[in-house]
Amino acid sequence: MNQLLTDIGGAPRTRAIVRAIQPYLRDGSVLDIGAGACQVARYLHKKLKLDVTAVDVVDHNLTKFPLVLYDGKRLPYKAAAYDTGLLVFVLHHAPDITGLLREARRVSKRVIVIEDTPVWRWERWLWRKMDYFENHAQHADIDIAHEALTVDAWRQLFEREGCTVVTSRTIRSFATTGLLYPHTLFVLETARRTALPRTGHGVTVTDLSRAARASRH
Ligand SMILES: C[S@@+](CC[C@H](N)C(=O)[O-])C[C@H]1O[C@@H](n2cnc3c(N)ncnc32)[C@H](O)[C@@H]1O
Repeated sequence: MNQLLTDIGGAPRTRAIVRAIQPYLRDGSVLDIGAGACQVARYLHKKLKLDVTAVDVVDHNLTKFPLVLYDGKRLPYKAAAYDTGLLVFVLHHAPDITGLLREARRVSKRVIVIEDTPVWRWERWLWRKMDYFENHAQHADIDIAHEALTVDAWRQLFEREGCTVVTSRTIRSFATTGLLYPHTLFVLETARRTALPRTGHGVTVTDLSRAARASRH
């Protein structure tokens, strides 16, 4: 029963995340860093048949997908061991953001980041409240969110750390953040290669546009 509720509750969010990252996934291995409930990792493995490893600093796995625990400082993998590393809503929970980014960059050839990017004051206020209730209030061992940077500030941080931002796309989605504030997907090539051409910054309002289409009929 618990499993059923977990599946139903997590499914729209998981699908929205996978829809956003799927175009940028390389064939091959994926390391889901900060996998949380492991629903994204399980979906990528079961539905997209990808070779996925899930790793986190604490165990809140709600699935039977295997989760590797580590110390939060050094990922237990060799350099460039994975084709794609995922940091989905993770960086802002890490006490050492640059340390985690460096580790993700070390072990993956490409890193896909999704980060909250509230813009307005009220969005930042809502973000802090929602993030607290979704994470720290339920699991005291998940750090309170530390940072909500702007798209430009995230980009500067990634570039300072030697990553090339080949794509960024701001998304407003009901399934992930209840349309209360936007989040942004960044595709980072580590210095080893730059396979994708750079594109400009995109904006997607998925659920809003779907709602608008529905209300027209
Ligand atoms: C908001 S949850 C996101 C979970 C998952 N990525 C998702 O979107 O469903 C943030 C996760 O980041 C993890 N985390 C925080 N610091 C970390 C670190 N240094 N290395 C790996 N995971 C970390 C937390 O334990 C938590 O599971």
